[in-house]
Amino acid sequence: MQQKKRGFFSGGSTFGNILTGMMIYHLTSSLIGGMFRHKPYNVYNYYNMPPEAKQEIKMPSNVLTLCEGNSTNFCAQGTTSICTTNGTVLCVATMTNAVPCAEEKTLCVNATMSCPDKNDPLCQNLTKGEDKATLPVPCLTNLTVDVNLLNETSNNGNADYKYCVTQLAVAGPEYRNCTEKDLVGTTLDYRNVIAGMYSWNLTVWGMVHPYAVFNYDRPMASAGSMGGGDIVMPLDMVISCVENATKVCAPPLVPICTAYKEVMCLETLTETKYCERFNTTCVRSVLPCDAADHLQDTNSPWCSNRTEEEMFEKDGKKHVAVQIPCFANITVNSNLPSFQIHEFNGTLPEGQNSSYTYHYRYCVGTLAIPGPESEACLQVDPAAPVLQTSS
Ligand SMILES: *[C@@H]1O[C@H](CO)[C@@H](O)[C@H](O)[C@H]1NC(C)=O
Ligand SMILES: *[C@@H]1O[C@H](CO)[C@@H](O)[C@H](O)[C@H]1NC(C)=O
Ligand SMILES: *[C@@H]1O[C@H](CO)[C@@H](O)[C@H](O)[C@H]1NC(C)=O
Ligand SMILES: *[C@@H]1O[C@H](CO)[C@@H](O)[C@H](O)[C@H]1NC(C)=O
Ligand SMILES: *[C@@H]1O[C@H](CO)[C@@H](O)[C@H](O)[C@H]1NC(C)=O
Ligand SMILES: *[C@@H]1O[C@H](CO)[C@@H](O)[C@H](O)[C@H]1NC(C)=O
Ligand SMILES: *[C@@H]1O[C@H](CO)[C@@H](O)[C@H](O)[C@H]1NC(C)=O
Ligand SMILES: *[C@@H]1O[C@H](CO)[C@@H](O)[C@H](O)[C@H]1NC(C)=O
Ligand SMILES: *[C@@H]1O[C@H](CO)[C@@H](O)[C@H](O)[C@H]1NC(C)=O
Ligand SMILES: *[C@@H]1O[C@H](CO)[C@@H](O)[C@H](O)[C@H]1NC(C)=O
Ligand SMILES: *[C@@H]1O[C@H](CO)[C@@H](O)[C@H](O)[C@H]1NC(C)=O
Ligand SMILES: *[C@@H]1O[C@H](CO)[C@@H](O)[C@H](O)[C@H]1NC(C)=O
Repeated sequence: MQQKKRGFFSGGSTFGNILTGMMIYHLTSSLIGGMFRHKPYNVYNYYNMPPEAKQEIKMPSNVLTLCEGNSTNFCAQGTTSICTTNGTVLCVATMTNAVPCAEEKTLCVNATMSCPDKNDPLCQNLTKGEDKATLPVPCLTNLTVDVNLLNETSNNGNADYKYCVTQLAVAGPEYRNCTEKDLVGTTLDYRNVIAGMYSWNLTVWGMVHPYAVFNYDRPMASAGSMGGGDIVMPLDMVISCVENATKVCAPPLVPICTAYKEVMCLETLTETKYCERFNTTCVRSVLPCDAADHLQDTNSPWCSNRTEEEMFEKDGKKHVAVQIPCFANITVNSNLPSFQIHEFNGTLPEGQNSSYTYHYRYCVGTLAIPGPESEACLQVDPAAPVLQTSS
């Protein structure tokens, strides 16, 4: 697969420490729903590095500006938002507050988030009366600037001040606003794919991304990458999918997303069986017929046009049994001795690493690949939710 920038498609970190990852998720997800909606940003943190090498950032003070509106809410309490004239938002803390992190090979600062929901796993250690949880957040890089950003009174002319940067929001490419046309049919799901629709618009956090869908009936033209052969991928490329993306996969195929925003629908190869109809390995899927929830009426005939053998009742509802042929195999390499794709929730278990590389083999039933970023659009919704405060 072609090297592309790592996006924040999964809604935050899936690598590394789960709690810190979740905290960053809380912070960045509030960003996406809020004021940045019309002004797309790429959000970076320790787990989601910018494509450029993470070299120290040096900045003259004359590019700094007041942070406008709710951009200050982007940063967790315990860090300060710094904005630049070209629209970059940085969350910084003083170096004196940065201490080596427990697990990551970097420095961490304590950041605080509010706990309106005491069942939030981030809030599990709160003692009675506390309503804020404190968690270490790793420094992504350092910022050196010629003014003291956090204490004006201690500025002394030509000294340099160094800060730990925990998060960065960099203005992305300009996206066009979606038109009516883009929004039609964005609720497509696997039934449409089975019925032969291969273009799909995925709405994630107010952005509509066009996708091209590939399967046995429509294999990828570019042989070599997924032309029916076996492809190999390291496990750390794999992230969990946002809910809307999972809908392209017919159960029991497991939706797995990659850091390059691809959606793969996988089943363990040993769970597949040869099926005569397609002369290849297949996954047997049992799908409800009457679940019109995600399906436009115009696309439903695929269920009403089935043979008696294919149809049956389950839980009082009509179902259809469908064979989904594998159009490619994928081998995922990992040093985890046991990796269960059906249980994968985006976080890799820690502390089980071995020096041996294990090969996990899967059947790819469906593959969805994002189109060019220039075709994505922003959904303009006057009733867009306001940015949640992150502290
Ligand atoms: C900032 O957020 C608050 C609520 O969180 C909202 O009332 C306010 O209008 C927002 N300001 C801007 C400039 O978006
Ligand atoms: C904004 O300016 C900073 C510092 O001058 C630079 O590092 C960064 O690449 C710029 N970002 C964009 C989006 O132009
Ligand atoms: C961060 O918080 C932990 C526990 O709340 C505390 O032990 C640690 O000293 C704090 N670190 C810094 C740099 O303040
Ligand atoms: C709660 O405390 C336990 C034990 O000290 C620790 O392992 C866990 O990470 C803490 N959870 C949070 C959310 O800080
Ligand atoms: C940031 O500064 C700390 C302390 O001076 C240093 O240990 C670390 O390597 C620096 N990180 C980068 C990315 O330059
Ligand atoms: C700011 O700097 C001044 C002068 O160095 C110092 O007296 C003061 O305590 C500092 N304030 C904070 C909040 O660190
Ligand atoms: C998109 O819509 C927003 C809100 O209506 C508007 O402010 C913005 O200028 C539009 N952007 C473009 C590129 O048309
Ligand atoms: C996706 O959006 C494009 C416009 O960008 C539109 O032409 C196309 O019909 C949409 N596709 C589907 C399947 O809704
Ligand atoms: C999922 O898609 C629907 C429209 O198809 C959209 O309204 C909703 O916001 C999307 N959910 C997320 C989390 O982006
Ligand atoms: C099934 O596929 C194999 C190769 O994968 C081929 O040799 C064989 O002729 C095919 N059988 C039929 C009935 O098409
Ligand atoms: C219904 O099945 C027949 C025979 O298999 C096929 O020719 C026809 O295209 C199907 N119609 C739909 C709407 O799938
Ligand atoms: C996937 O692997 C199975 C078992 O090795 C094999 O029978 C099948 O032909 C492979 N499928 C593809 C599309 O390569």
